[in-house]
Amino acid sequence: MTQSIYVTRAIPEQTIAALAESFDVEVNPDDRALSREELLERVRGRAGLVTLLTDQIDGAVLDAAGPQCRVVANFAVGTNNFDIAAASARKVALVNTPSVLDDATATHTLALMLAAARRIPESERYLRSGQWAGWKPMFFIGQDVDRRTLGIAGLGRIGRNVARKARGFDMRILYTDVRRSEDFEREHGAEFVDKATLLAQSDFVTLHTPLTPETRHYIGAAELRQMKPTAILVNASRGPVIDEVALVEALRERRIFAAALDVFENEPALAPGLAELDNVVIVPHIASATLETRLRMGEIVVRNIKQVLSGGRGDCCINPEVFGG
Ligand code: DGY
Repeated sequence: MTQSIYVTRAIPEQTIAALAESFDVEVNPDDRALSREELLERVRGRAGLVTLLTDQIDGAVLDAAGPQCRVVANFAVGTNNFDIAAASARKVALVNTPSVLDDATATHTLALMLAAARRIPESERYLRSGQWAGWKPMFFIGQDVDRRTLGIAGLGRIGRNVARKARGFDMRILYTDVRRSEDFEREHGAEFVDKATLLAQSDFVTLHTPLTPETRHYIGAAELRQMKPTAILVNASRGPVIDEVALVEALRERRIFAAALDVFENEPALAPGLAELDNVVIVPHIASATLETRLRMGEIVVRNIKQVLSGGRGDCCINPEVFGG
């Protein structure tokens, strides 16, 4: 009997077609996140699931799917929606889509930095509103980017990629992470600093940490106070890494110059007051949203599901212990 795969939300049709060559595939017909009840119901009897960061995959979901369920592939690089221990205990392989979205996410990070520094969305809104009465020199004064200091919190693949791209602006690179990388320092002339130094010295602070209990509210009221009044905070990682209520207060009081956010603490809701502020660029979690990237993510998902369901190891499996180490 052909194995059944459930896809919790519309993903590229090429990915669905590739899955359908080997499996019975059912896709959530509605372009919205499933409720918890719907998820528990629809996973039943599936050999594999394709999930999104909006689906909480824990022991209850895996038990609802049943013991034949061997693989859950997140159509995302982030895995904070997975209960890894629960999956490993049930010998279910968990897969994500690393590397293929590094360029898109890092490019988007630079776009956010530039948009906030040069006040592009704010000035565009002004122009569209019909208020522009002509050029004047002290109008929408922003921040230089070239040769300024970029502080990268979290030196994973995306953080490194941002550093590489920022070299095009001759930026001085500071970074902080749980471990030091001398190779990275040599390659980019980067300096390893502690979090307090990074916050105090950077003109741009960009966050690239995964969301874990340790990184929740990595930037809160105290950290915002340590930043320069001219600094710009950029987040294309996960929303809860910033205390969004504290950020609204800091932006309102102009304690930093601006923020640029791709992700939010309680998506899709925004903290009260955030959307009314002029000194924040906000976009709806689109850092990896290019067609090429989505197709590459799909290729990883299909390949890994096939690998696991044909008795192999998924090459992007994040809990390889399910294969016996
Ligand atoms: C990811 O991959 O984790 C992004 O946040 C969504 O594409």
